[in-house]
Amino acid sequence: MQRVFSGIQPSGIPTLGNYLGAIRNWVRLQDDHECLWCVVDLHAITVWQDPAALRQQSLEMSAVLLACGVDPAKHILFLQSGVRAHAQLAWIFNCVARLGWLNRMTQFKDKAGKDRENASSGLYVYPNLMAADIHAYHATRVPVGDDQRQHLELANDIAQKFNHDYGVDFFPNIEPVILGPAARVMSLRDGTKKMSKSDPSDQSRINLNDDADTIALKIRRAKTDPMPLPSDVEELADRPEARNLVGIYAALTDTDHASVLRDHGGQGFGPFKSALTDLLVEKLAPIAARTNEILSDESGLIDVLRSGAERAAAIAEPIVAEAERLVGFVGLGGR
Ligand code: TYM
Repeated sequence: MQRVFSGIQPSGIPTLGNYLGAIRNWVRLQDDHECLWCVVDLHAITVWQDPAALRQQSLEMSAVLLACGVDPAKHILFLQSGVRAHAQLAWIFNCVARLGWLNRMTQFKDKAGKDRENASSGLYVYPNLMAADIHAYHATRVPVGDDQRQHLELANDIAQKFNHDYGVDFFPNIEPVILGPAARVMSLRDGTKKMSKSDPSDQSRINLNDDADTIALKIRRAKTDPMPLPSDVEELADRPEARNLVGIYAALTDTDHASVLRDHGGQGFGPFKSALTDLLVEKLAPIAARTNEILSDESGLIDVLRSGAERAAAIAEPIVAEAERLVGFVGLGGR
């Protein structure tokens, strides 16, 4: 059975983009893979996080994942900071990855913005930690949204260089698993920008804990163009907002853009938006309710995460110890 790893940052409430681009696919992979699901708090602090908020968001994110159907008994759900092996392997990868490779990462450029000099050094080496997350488990399949593609290519470059430099065949090639018509959900305010939990405008996204009224309002206000929905997928090409809403509808109904346009093509946005709102409320309300239930038993949730970290560490520690031996460390064991 292939091993799957994926991660999500506890840097806010998860959005519809996280759900459709990643979490939903995670749950589906659980049927026939061995899976590790990681709430990546080490990654989150590459930009400032208020400590109390980070703690709360880490628990909330874990609760949302459980509410979406992550199975912590058959698989492993844990917090990244609970398994030291991630940071240990990341250091080795900091010494394998080349500055030129990191300079090409578009996400660093986006996140650092104009004030690059003031970005944390963690933000710069972020992709090396991400590579370590995956390779510490010899995972070979990684379900993500389309925005993570470049980071996964880098993770493969790092593995290849490590294997080459040390003359081994130790870290396997990983395959991105990017699925469905909503692998890149866009902002509701700007169809050319990714929907993101860290966007300053709450109107730009659907949060997984939004109530029905909030969802209705956000969809009603979502930016569109004045034309009715086309009947042909090709006509969505230069209509990013329309394409985004159709893609969301398609993902929620497990169909594709063409089939949504077969049913709704020719319609104005009014009726389409109201059908989309009903669908979102139907799918998201149970997740929000279940998340609150899980959060009401914080110590139960922490037990799940502790057990996850122990089982994750049992897989990662021997792999990272072997990487350290290959590098030439004497290996007196971690403290
Ligand atoms: P993060 O926390 O930004 O997002 C978590 C997952 O959600 C996907 N995603 C989206 N998919 C479609 N449309 C969107 N608008 C959208 N926004 C986010 C992301 O692609 C991701 O799959 N670097 C990662 C976390 C990470 C990781 C890893 C992932 C750390 N280590 C190892 C895989 C393997 C990140 O910031 O995800």
